[in-house]
Amino acid sequence: MASVNSHLKAAKKQSAMIEKTIARLKKCRFDTIATSGIYSGDFAAAYAQGSIIEPSFLSSAQHFADSKQMEAALSYQMPAWAYSRIANPTIFYLEQTLSLLESYGMEENASCCVCASGMAAICSAIEPLLVPNKAGDPINFVSSSQVYGGTFMQFTTRQQEQGKKVRFVAPSENIETWAQQIDQHTRFVFIEVPSNPNLSVCDIKALAALAHKHHIPLLVDATVATPALLRPLSLGADIVIHSLSKSIGASGMAIGGALISRKNIIAHYLENSQREDFASYVKLWPNRDNGPCLAPLQASLILNDLRTLRMRMASLSHHTLTVAQFLAQHKKVESVYYPGLASHQGHELAREMFGLVDSSVKAYGHLLSFTVKGGKRAAMAVLDRLELIWRATDLGRIKSVATIPSISTHQQQGDEGRALSSIEDGLIRLSVGNEHPADIIADLSQALS
Ligand SMILES: Cc1ncc(COP(=O)(O)O)c(C=O)c1O
Repeated sequence: MASVNSHLKAAKKQSAMIEKTIARLKKCRFDTIATSGIYSGDFAAAYAQGSIIEPSFLSSAQHFADSKQMEAALSYQMPAWAYSRIANPTIFYLEQTLSLLESYGMEENASCCVCASGMAAICSAIEPLLVPNKAGDPINFVSSSQVYGGTFMQFTTRQQEQGKKVRFVAPSENIETWAQQIDQHTRFVFIEVPSNPNLSVCDIKALAALAHKHHIPLLVDATVATPALLRPLSLGADIVIHSLSKSIGASGMAIGGALISRKNIIAHYLENSQREDFASYVKLWPNRDNGPCLAPLQASLILNDLRTLRMRMASLSHHTLTVAQFLAQHKKVESVYYPGLASHQGHELAREMFGLVDSSVKAYGHLLSFTVKGGKRAAMAVLDRLELIWRATDLGRIKSVATIPSISTHQQQGDEGRALSSIEDGLIRLSVGNEHPADIIADLSQALS
């Protein structure tokens, strides 16, 4: 039987190979990282029978050479995967690649924990930040009022059930109003940039500075932007959330989520071991026990979509601006919400924060919303007439998809909740796809007629 030291030595050799790849990729461009991921030729030859695409490890568990290796792996003395709820090689490739893309341009590397959905990623990120202290003090957190409907419900209903209070602030409010909501019991600030469905934009740098002044973290859900257009960690945020089910996994064959943290997040109430590498802490401890893991096959599907993220976001942003400009001049359209339009409330801020990575191109993503004259009834009539554009509660797809948030994605939060989030009943949300923009416009044109 091999000694535990020989197992640790073998694991170290494997880790060193991965670290070398990460160091090399840190000097590469975004597309290179997204395309090759952390999976290198050397690694493939040594550990994966040379497969040039990351293998999909569907096995639920890992066989160990002997009991010593098993003991060392399960007590986290050496990197191993043991059981897919805890870790898995295919999931590891996805997590490492997302960490590199999210910390692109930064000296330090981030870390990532992927989950079964975007909602599971949000829950996994916030629950460790909301653990009561020994004194049993009240707990609150501050959030933009304009967030995805599922997030709104998690923050109100689910957290409220446990006595944790959300304090909503409209994203357009000035920094003093945000500051007034923070007190000694506030655990974090949460924003969604740009927001679904209003495409509102918050000032990440200013809110990170405010949160840090109170020694608490800033969390940013950047699902709609993706790291190809916006990297909140580089603007001072502590934790980034993605629903991988959207633009990152654009082909629409997988549901997944990710939380990505910088090193040493600011959170005065956490222990140092939790703050230093928050995403890994979540992955190895709470998520091991709670089990919201991603399935490895989903990780493979998402990895494949991730390779083409930048070119998709470039092209789809361009399509979306064309469609937004068409809608903005249409006589039956009342208002259009798209950060790429000069008329958008957050346009100047979006111009500062957004841009196609590795270029000087300004790009704002492929989600927009609009209202038509005649309110909800007219909006439903337009939705019903669409022929090319899909009617679905979905976004970020390679295919164009439309919905009315008040009857779908944001229905559950009720009239009062939607009023708080400024979601109009007749708002139509359109995720612009890869069809030719002329054909998308033709479909909208006939539906509006
Ligand atoms: C901005 C945003 N965050 C999170 C989620 C939740 O993601 P999932 O559907 O993967 O749970 C969504 C879903 O639409 C979203 O739009």
